[in-house]
Amino acid sequence: MIKPGAVVVHLCQIQVKSTDLTKSAMTTKDKTRAFRVLQLTDPHLMANASGELLGVNTRSSLNAVIENVLETHGQPDLILATGDLAQDASREAYRVFGESLKVFSCKSAWLAGNHDDTDKLRQVAAQYQADHRSIVQGGWQIILLDSSVPGKVLGRLAQSELDFLEQMLTQHPELPALVTLHHHPVNIGSDWMEKIGLQNRDAFWEIIDRFPQVKIVLWGHVHQKHDLDRNGVRLLATPSTCIQFASKSVKFSVEDKAPGYRWFELQSTGDFTTEVRRALNFEFELDQNSSGY
Ligand SMILES: [Fe+2]
Repeated sequence: MIKPGAVVVHLCQIQVKSTDLTKSAMTTKDKTRAFRVLQLTDPHLMANASGELLGVNTRSSLNAVIENVLETHGQPDLILATGDLAQDASREAYRVFGESLKVFSCKSAWLAGNHDDTDKLRQVAAQYQADHRSIVQGGWQIILLDSSVPGKVLGRLAQSELDFLEQMLTQHPELPALVTLHHHPVNIGSDWMEKIGLQNRDAFWEIIDRFPQVKIVLWGHVHQKHDLDRNGVRLLATPSTCIQFASKSVKFSVEDKAPGYRWFELQSTGDFTTEVRRALNFEFELDQNSSGY
């Protein structure tokens, strides 16, 4: 039986370092307040510091979002980075991401997206102690699934990922759970994005439907905000920290909304609040005529 506030971390290499536990341990006082989780998604960083995506410097937009997090919400207890951390799949982009997060005092967990090189991402994530697959903290279980498929934009969960999901949920039926992946596991009403979502979503939902403790399914990839419900499970998507895709679009199209992030306040009862915020005072000129990214 895991008590609220206890910290159990499953790392990629199945290692648990005592320093991680000490760093993340919550005080008695902290147990009574919400577990605060920050989601940053799709920063699309590049090795080149002046690299732009459709006219937006992705390092500058990420920094503007981080500045807004610190001004608006302050320090989180955990950061979830839900894929497309790099646009160019470079080791340098992952290093820049890790360095950017050093203004936060909590640990982070990184997922791969379709633009990432999973092996490189995991190697650099390990250097920043961000290679977590499952986290038990603040009375919740957070499960991260890799839906990336090498060379493809669409997503798929390998059988090993589905088995991992089932195994983790079986281990902690007493804890409310947040499950996160890069690709959207439901139709979001956008024709071009429907083709690049999670392909084997039925297998994913077959597992989720058997575990009533799952409260939240969270993803990146779509560069836009969604807040849906499926049989009592909140389905949430979040703006990118760089460019935004137009919602309900038939073909690829972008819109000039500001970069953003999602914030959660999770209670150990399973109740929670969440909101999306966008970077204030970030000026950019979006190339609206591009046919892809
Ligand atoms: Fe993306």
